[in-house]
Amino acid sequence: MGLEERSLAQTGPRPERPHARADWKQMLGIGIVASILGIAAGLLIDWFPVAASEEAKPIDTLWDVLIIASVPVFVGVSVVVVFSVLKFRMRPGEEELDGPPIHGNTKLEVVWTAIPAILLVGLCTYAFIVLTDVEKAQANTMEIRVVGEQFAWTFYYPGENGEEVAARELHLPIDRPIKFKLQSKDVLHDFWIPAFRMKKDTVPGIDVSYRVTPNRLGRYPIVCAELCGLGHSTMRATAVVQTEAEFTSWLAEAAKPPAPPEGGGGSDGKGLFASNGCGGCHTLADAGTNATVGPSLDEVLADKDEAFIKTSIEDPGAEIADGYSDTMPKDYGQRLGPDGVDALAKYLSEVTKGG
Ligand code: CUA
Repeated sequence: MGLEERSLAQTGPRPERPHARADWKQMLGIGIVASILGIAAGLLIDWFPVAASEEAKPIDTLWDVLIIASVPVFVGVSVVVVFSVLKFRMRPGEEELDGPPIHGNTKLEVVWTAIPAILLVGLCTYAFIVLTDVEKAQANTMEIRVVGEQFAWTFYYPGENGEEVAARELHLPIDRPIKFKLQSKDVLHDFWIPAFRMKKDTVPGIDVSYRVTPNRLGRYPIVCAELCGLGHSTMRATAVVQTEAEFTSWLAEAAKPPAPPEGGGGSDGKGLFASNGCGGCHTLADAGTNATVGPSLDEVLADKDEAFIKTSIEDPGAEIADGYSDTMPKDYGQRLGPDGVDALAKYLSEVTKGG
C-alpha cells in the first residue's frame, strides 16, 4: 500500500480485527492450574543435600516460601505471553486490519505495580529476619580461621599458648556454635558447605565471617563456589562433624608436632602426595590419581631425576611442561619443608621410572 493510499484509508474509521477468540477467564483458569502444578513440582523436588546444621531448617523453609511466591509470578507471565501469542495472533486475511484501540488502564496498572511491590518488600523483610536470626552471636562459640588459596583449604584452630593448629580436614564438634573467619591468600574463593546451607566469598585482604552450628554427625563435602582458576573444581575438602570427645582427641592429635619422616622415604612421599592434594591437579598412576589440570607426572617425570623434581616442587615456574601454564602454587617448598620436598621428590622419581 502506497503512502497516499494509506492516508486515504485512515480518514474513515479503521476496520478492526475480530475481537479475542478466547476470554480472560480461560486464561486465568490455565494460569491457576499451571501455578498449582508448578508449586507442587517446586516443593516436591529435593533441591538440597541432607541438612546438617541448625541454620538449614529456617533456610530451607525460606526457600519453600520463595518457591510458593515466585512460581505463580513466572507461570502467570508465561501463560499470558503464550496464551496471547496463540489466541490473539493475526490470522490470514487480517493483514490490513487493526486490533481494537487500547488507551491504557490505570486501575490495572496500579494493581500490577502494587502487587509485586508488596510481594518484594514482604519477601525481603522475611529473608532479612532469617539472615539476622541465623547469624546471631551465641555463647560458647568456637572461631575457626579458614584460609583459601589456589587450590586448597586450610583450617586453623585456636590451640594452646595462642598457637594455632592447622588442618587440611575440617573437624567440628556437634552442636557447638562455630564462627568461620574466612581469608584468602590469592584470589576470590567461596567457602561453601552445602549440608550447612551457608556460603560466603573469601576476599584477599578482608576478613569475612559466618556462623553455623552443625547438628548432625557425618562427613560433608566442602566446595569452592567461586571460579578461582584452573584447579577450581578440585578445590574441595571434607567437613567431619563428630562428638565433642572425638573432636577433642582429634585436635590434641593434630596439635602434636609432625613426626619426623621415617626411614622409608618412598612410602612417606606417597603420603605427602596425598595429603597435599597433589592428585587434585596431577595424574600419577602409583597414587591412583587421574586429574588433568597439570601435566601427568607419569609422562613428564619419566626421564627426569630427583634434582629436577625437587626444583619443580620448590620453583614450579622454572620449567613448564608444553601446553601448561604457570599456575602451580609457589609455596609447596615452604609447606613441605626441606625434608618433605626430599621425600616427595624421591618418591616421585622412583614411581615414574616404571616404563
Ligand atoms: Cu577456589 Cu574456586
